[in-house]
Amino acid sequence: MRTAELREKYLSFFEGKGHLRLPSFSLIPEDDPSILFTSAGMAPLKPYFLGARPVFGGKEWRRVTTCQKCLRVGDIENVGRTGRHNTFFEMLGNFSFGDYFKKEAITWAWEFLTEHLKLEPDRLWVTVFEDDDEAYAIWRDLVGVPEERIGRFGEDENYWPGGAITHGPNGPSGPCSEIFYDRGPGFGTPDETGPNTGSGDRFVEIWNLVFTQYDRQGPIPGPGILKPLPQKNIDTGMGLYRVAAILQGVEDFYRTDTFFPLIERVALWSGRPYEGKSSVSHRVIADHVRAVVAALSDGATFSNTGRGYVVRRLLRRALRHGYLLGLKDPFLHRLAPVVAELLGDFYPEMRENLPAVEKQIRLEEERFLETLEGGVRRLEELLSGLKPGEALPGEEAFRLYDTYGFPLDLTVEIAAERGFGVDTEGFEEAMRLQQERSRAAMAFEREIFKRGAQVLEEIQKERGGTEFVGYTDLEAEAEVLALLAGDQSLLEAGPGTEVQVVLDRTPFYAEGGGQIGDFGFLEWPGGRARVETTRKTEGGIFLHKARVEEGTLRVGQRVRAVVDPRRRDTERNHTATHLLHAALRAVLGPHVRQAGSLVAPDRLRFDFTHPEPLSLEELERVERLVNRWIMADLPVRWTYKPLEEAKKEGAMALFGEKYGEVVRVVEVAEASKELCGGTHVRRTGEIGAFFIAREEAVSAGVRRVEALTGEGALDFVQGMRRRLHRLAEALGTGEAALEERISRLKEELKAKEKEAALLKARLARAELKGEVEEKGGLRYTVQTLSGLDASALRQAADDLVAQGVDVVLLFSEGNAVLKLSKKALERGLEAGSLMRRLTERAGGRGGGKGALAQGGGLLPERAKEALLEAL
Ligand code: ALA
Repeated sequence: MRTAELREKYLSFFEGKGHLRLPSFSLIPEDDPSILFTSAGMAPLKPYFLGARPVFGGKEWRRVTTCQKCLRVGDIENVGRTGRHNTFFEMLGNFSFGDYFKKEAITWAWEFLTEHLKLEPDRLWVTVFEDDDEAYAIWRDLVGVPEERIGRFGEDENYWPGGAITHGPNGPSGPCSEIFYDRGPGFGTPDETGPNTGSGDRFVEIWNLVFTQYDRQGPIPGPGILKPLPQKNIDTGMGLYRVAAILQGVEDFYRTDTFFPLIERVALWSGRPYEGKSSVSHRVIADHVRAVVAALSDGATFSNTGRGYVVRRLLRRALRHGYLLGLKDPFLHRLAPVVAELLGDFYPEMRENLPAVEKQIRLEEERFLETLEGGVRRLEELLSGLKPGEALPGEEAFRLYDTYGFPLDLTVEIAAERGFGVDTEGFEEAMRLQQERSRAAMAFEREIFKRGAQVLEEIQKERGGTEFVGYTDLEAEAEVLALLAGDQSLLEAGPGTEVQVVLDRTPFYAEGGGQIGDFGFLEWPGGRARVETTRKTEGGIFLHKARVEEGTLRVGQRVRAVVDPRRRDTERNHTATHLLHAALRAVLGPHVRQAGSLVAPDRLRFDFTHPEPLSLEELERVERLVNRWIMADLPVRWTYKPLEEAKKEGAMALFGEKYGEVVRVVEVAEASKELCGGTHVRRTGEIGAFFIAREEAVSAGVRRVEALTGEGALDFVQGMRRRLHRLAEALGTGEAALEERISRLKEELKAKEKEAALLKARLARAELKGEVEEKGGLRYTVQTLSGLDASALRQAADDLVAQGVDVVLLFSEGNAVLKLSKKALERGLEAGSLMRRLTERAGGRGGGKGALAQGGGLLPERAKEALLEAL
């Protein structure tokens, strides 16, 4: 049975049992900071296990089934070594949110395996959690599994997540029951007598049924407490590839139909068959390229931290294995279409985003291969200097990482192949030292936070964060709660003092979400302080970085806090950033994800994932769409709602940003909906106009757009018009006729050049006199011309030979050319040796061969004498 058919069979089986089939969620968890990638079918559904209402398409569904894309990199070292490990894999699951429980989950799993897949019941073994008598009884009495094929195990095997009671993580969890397939004694070792015994591969776990009924809470590591969830749930996970391998009668996943086409390509391109020791590399490549394509298709990018680094590592490890197979040019991007072909029917995003993904991979490959060559050479050098039993020093490993981008795991792998270890602790230490150095620059700012911490803590305890009134107001009355300077907390600050001012309420926006902190001033009777910028602590206390200009500012003083009116420009730019984001997605496609932004009064900058420069036409379409939204004068509204609800309504959230339980959603009617804490215009009409000023690359796969709104947009256009005007003036024409004028000028220039060339040639020919003489039956001429460069001189000599002169010697501007006719050559003359004779007599240098020789610095009269002697 093909893998696709198995997938479909599973999903439709559970549809038949009242489940809603949902498409796979993204590999990139959207609001779960506890994981980098979606690692199980249940991960995106966590809120529903905890009690959120599972509403999909306007209807409540307590039964759901999915085939979920998953990525697990914990075990990456094993990937490739066996035919059973994967990083990227697909998990089939059926879920109950407070609906059915153990009995249904167990009997349906059995029904599917034995009746629909026709697996032999005698080959199926099961396990349950040590004290789960209920599950035990269902297997034995209801399903009829003989007792000798039912095992009981502890929390490491039969609790999910494994060992969670003692070790964490916190969150929904529960006892589980696993189903194993017995592949027969041939695969096992004598000590393997059932699931979770021995060291063989005889019993394969194919399905895990989790009875999710607890919320594990407490310290990590534990002991944790198991808080009963408000409802009892079911979470199951069946390994698609494991079951496919069984049904296809192969032992090795990589021989199933979803992998083998990749293996075949690798074998074909490298000329290395899929067998023996090198098959590790085939598998690593096949696995990792699938993972990379899947992650990029969901919006991941290559980078040096977090998720991006995992993807980068996967690509690099695959490349390194390609390198071992002799594939020394970029090749992974050529596998991407194969992956999309194999998986795209089920995961259309892999097909839709393929062009972008291919390019991202190719760029990243090219980069890494360049450094790989250098790194491999350097590492070989270092290793050959080691004595047996020595380890590569950690600093060297770090230097390889730092200068050649050579990941530690590659260094470890190459060193291990040559029988050496690597001092990985030394590596970590070197890494830590470097991070410390780069942090030193920020030390001063951190100090303020640390030592002023006590005062801030007290404020936090008493009042919580600062009340922010700046969404609507640019001015407010407030009271000074604290003044911080360096490591001190002051009671008053005189003229010239720089302080961080804490107020009870403020209209100043604190830097965040790409928007810069507000500036402006504070004033009170007899005094004034300039606010340069505003930031806030994690607890939400706003710090106004200010300099007292007049008077004395005291704790307890009531002040008028006034934000600089340029904040309105910032608002224009912030709302325009949301519109730009939406327009880019509309024009370029859903692979566009925000990768950073800066919103200031004078400009906005927006970074996003996209593999190539935008064409002029694309830029214009984006610009036009944004301006249409502006012209439509759409209302901008914000509301606060629970994160889950916001996401369900399709609000765009930034990956990697932390959001609280309740989020602020900024909505521009019909155009955009984003989670955002920033300040915005009230209607899009206030933006005035929007122009893109530049578009450029930030890094592989990430583009940057800078744009202008409001007065800035006007300045931009007026500046362009001024330049155009000056150009027209300089060219002596009106602006409308500028293009025509330039193309006429270009034509004129071309005609003039042609004319000049003709004139030159005519001059040269006019100068050539008919002074042709004869000696020994050969017609010769020696002439000096003016103003010809070497190539014009050669041309003139050619002309003369063509006119029947046998020996031509021409001089001009220090250059000399000697050209012989065929007849002269037949007489035994040779230009090279002739030129040598000339320079012997006439000085200068020269050389040549056959019919042509050239020289410089010869005295023409002497040269002529020498020539005549030679003829
Ligand atoms: N969530 C369970 C697992 O990953 C089904 O095994």
